[in-house]
Amino acid sequence: MRAMNLTPEHPMVDAIVDDLAHRGWTQQSLFLPAPLIRALADECRQRAVQGELSPASVGRGAGQEVREAIRGDRIQWLERGQSEACDLYLDAMDSLRQALNQGLYLGLEDYESHFALYPPGAFYRRHLDRFRDDDRRAVSAILYLNEDWQPQDGGQLRLYLDGEQALDVPPVAACLVVFLSGDIPHEVLPTGRERLSLTGWFRRRGNDPF
Ligand code: OGA
Ligand code: MN
Repeated sequence: MRAMNLTPEHPMVDAIVDDLAHRGWTQQSLFLPAPLIRALADECRQRAVQGELSPASVGRGAGQEVREAIRGDRIQWLERGQSEACDLYLDAMDSLRQALNQGLYLGLEDYESHFALYPPGAFYRRHLDRFRDDDRRAVSAILYLNEDWQPQDGGQLRLYLDGEQALDVPPVAACLVVFLSGDIPHEVLPTGRERLSLTGWFRRRGNDPF
């Protein structure tokens, strides 16, 4: 299995850097090859069956709590060395991190990410990805893993762009959405079927002790 060779010269990487610089978000419909997307989806489902996904929480530190009225997804954080597919994904995101640093001087130090599974009926209310007490999350990236997604399946990511203009992105396999974490409020509309993704954040160095 292979990922794409995402050097800063790759036209897709160039487009991501350019879009982020000019409008703060981008959508790329074929970020990784289909066999790798399928392997990642299989792995997410397998982790779910093995009971490894936990209800996602809202907030952080001592203020963290599970609130299904806000978000109903189940997640598991990724670590290196768990599977070939996950490592290829993390390699691709690290290439992107380096390209963003070269092109936008963001000083992104690392990338944290988790699998997310939204069962039918789940949603995530409107929010910003940057915590009030921690501004290390600079750039959000979501990769969707759902083959044959139909418009009636719902589950769109709704981005609130300049002037509150709403833009809906269906969670179609291999589509990557990247946006500036502190600038773009967004939500996940209720999904009609199981909805899988890998969600992550490129982080700057913080002066926070955690
Ligand atoms: C998140 C989030 C959006 C999506 O996990 O913070 O906004 O489309 N996810 O899964
Ligand atoms: Mn979010």
